[in-house]
Amino acid sequence: GAMDPMIVLGLEGTAHTISCGIIDESRILAMESSMYRPKTGGIRPLDAAVHHSEVIDTVISRALEKAKISIHDIDLIGFSMGPGLAPSLRVTATAARTISVLTGKPIIGVNHPLGHIEIGRRVTGAIDPVMLYVSGGNTQVIAHVNGRYRVLGETLDIGIGNMIDKFAREAGIPFPGGPEIEKLAMKGTKLLDLPYSVKGMDTAFSGILTAALQYLKTGQAIEDISYSIQETAFAMLVEVLERALYVSGKDEILMAGGVALNRRLRDMVTNMAREAGIRSYLTDREYCMDNGIMIAQAALLMYKSGVRMSVEETAVNPRFRIDEVDAPWITDAS
Ligand code: ATP
Ligand code: FE2
Repeated sequence: GAMDPMIVLGLEGTAHTISCGIIDESRILAMESSMYRPKTGGIRPLDAAVHHSEVIDTVISRALEKAKISIHDIDLIGFSMGPGLAPSLRVTATAARTISVLTGKPIIGVNHPLGHIEIGRRVTGAIDPVMLYVSGGNTQVIAHVNGRYRVLGETLDIGIGNMIDKFAREAGIPFPGGPEIEKLAMKGTKLLDLPYSVKGMDTAFSGILTAALQYLKTGQAIEDISYSIQETAFAMLVEVLERALYVSGKDEILMAGGVALNRRLRDMVTNMAREAGIRSYLTDREYCMDNGIMIAQAALLMYKSGVRMSVEETAVNPRFRIDEVDAPWITDAS
């Protein structure tokens, strides 16, 4: 009936993961994902898109089954419009448009990092945090200022996750390398010198990658290299996070993205927050990685704040930035 909460279906597919999430305003109803894993080397964008197109039907129907609803019960469709790999984005957008046309329900294209923030806020209860968004392709420090989320600092070259994955790949560890490097790092004892590169609130990681690969070639223990990569790169993140808190005047931290699953990074951030008297929140494990729930949640907030999109307005944008989107549902604390 008219009083029922809105049911939102979200599709994520910016990179390696295709995922469908279903939520209503108070509950998370279902999440189904499938990850493209290249047999060798890094992600090949076309192969990722082929993977997504092959499994998207199953992923969506399983999510509907789990949520115990039919496609016609959906009130709103959200999908990740960018940033990301163009072929993957197109598969996701096409599926979302098809569902919208089929059901006659509204469609909203969502900025992917916005999804990470909004699911983090929903599941942790953070209100107006500085977000550390650390994933494969992204390394950003974001805060809400004057009606939008603004990128206060970001990587000047590669994302921290990509840096770790590329190092891992050269060491013979399959994608994604992050979890295995974390395990190896726990056994490392020797802190090797790696380039610490922070400029204002921006960071750079390719120097660390180059130096770490050199250590690998010269026979340093992989445990020590992994340990040194984590200690150096994470210390850089903590430094920019502290600066962002100071500049923005916020008193909460929210961590999101796949690299936020790393225990050592979480501990370093939590310690800094405790000393600074700041509350820190960690997005739950299952919502840290790319997923459809986060896209559904951002679409719901956008819809409720009045956003409507015609199908023509749902063109994908591989370089979509979070500060292009109005986010009026937060009133700045500072
Ligand atoms: P983006 O959000 O930029 O599109 P993505 O889709 O690659 O990038 P996620 O799915 O959020 O990002 O995260 C994947 C990344 O997280 C990979 O680089 C992976 O190695 C890294 N990762 C996962 N677990 C860990 C861990 N325990 N420690 C460090 N990194 C990790
Ligand atoms: Fe992501």
